[in-house]
Amino acid sequence: MSPATPQTVQNSSTQTPPSKKTTEDLPQGIPTIRVVAMPADTNPEGDIFGGWIVSQMDIAAGTAAASRAYGRCATVAIKNLSFIKPVRVGDEISVYTHIIRTGRTSITIHVQTWKRARDTHALSKVTEGEFVFVALTDEYRPRPLPPLCSEECLHDSCNTTI
Ligand SMILES: CC(C)(COP(=O)(O)OP(=O)(O)OC[C@H]1O[C@@H](n2cnc3c(N)ncnc32)[C@H](O)[C@@H]1OP(=O)(O)O)[C@@H](O)C(=O)NCCC(=O)NCCS
Repeated sequence: MSPATPQTVQNSSTQTPPSKKTTEDLPQGIPTIRVVAMPADTNPEGDIFGGWIVSQMDIAAGTAAASRAYGRCATVAIKNLSFIKPVRVGDEISVYTHIIRTGRTSITIHVQTWKRARDTHALSKVTEGEFVFVALTDEYRPRPLPPLCSEECLHDSCNTTI
């Protein structure tokens, strides 16, 4: 019987460490909406309209704003909007929101959009920007933001650290 071949044991300190994800590699904020880009969302060349993506960002930010303001809000400004990568038909779009500032009547929300192609689990950031909303009365005048709920409230907007 031939002697057993010694096994090569790789020292753990020489193994390639698992890749560390930084905050830049991961979505930041609360997942607010998810939608698939469809052929109806394209321009005549067949590429997804930037305006369609901005619309999804506005819908997501508006959801976060209305939740924080307990009611009617309007977009008053969009700042620092960047289009980082293109979106293709069939890509799954996820929009993340994070309230970064509140004033007397305004709410500033950082918005990121990430895409995932249908045949992969890889995510990449496609847009980001800041959306400013103003809480409005029924007469469409600026309305002071109400205080947050009690600390028992589990809703996203009451648990966001600004
Ligand atoms: C929202 C609206 C009622 C605000 O009216 P206004 O006269 O500008 O009100 P104010 O000057 O009192 O400002 C209200 C708040 O908005 C903020 N604000 C106004 N314009 C802003 C701008 N361009 N960027 C950032 N914040 C702005 C103010 O700083 C203030 O915040 P604060 O109360 O937290 O300090 C008015 O601008 C409006 O009706 N705009 C159209 C909104 C709309 O239809 N949006 C949909 C897209 S078409």
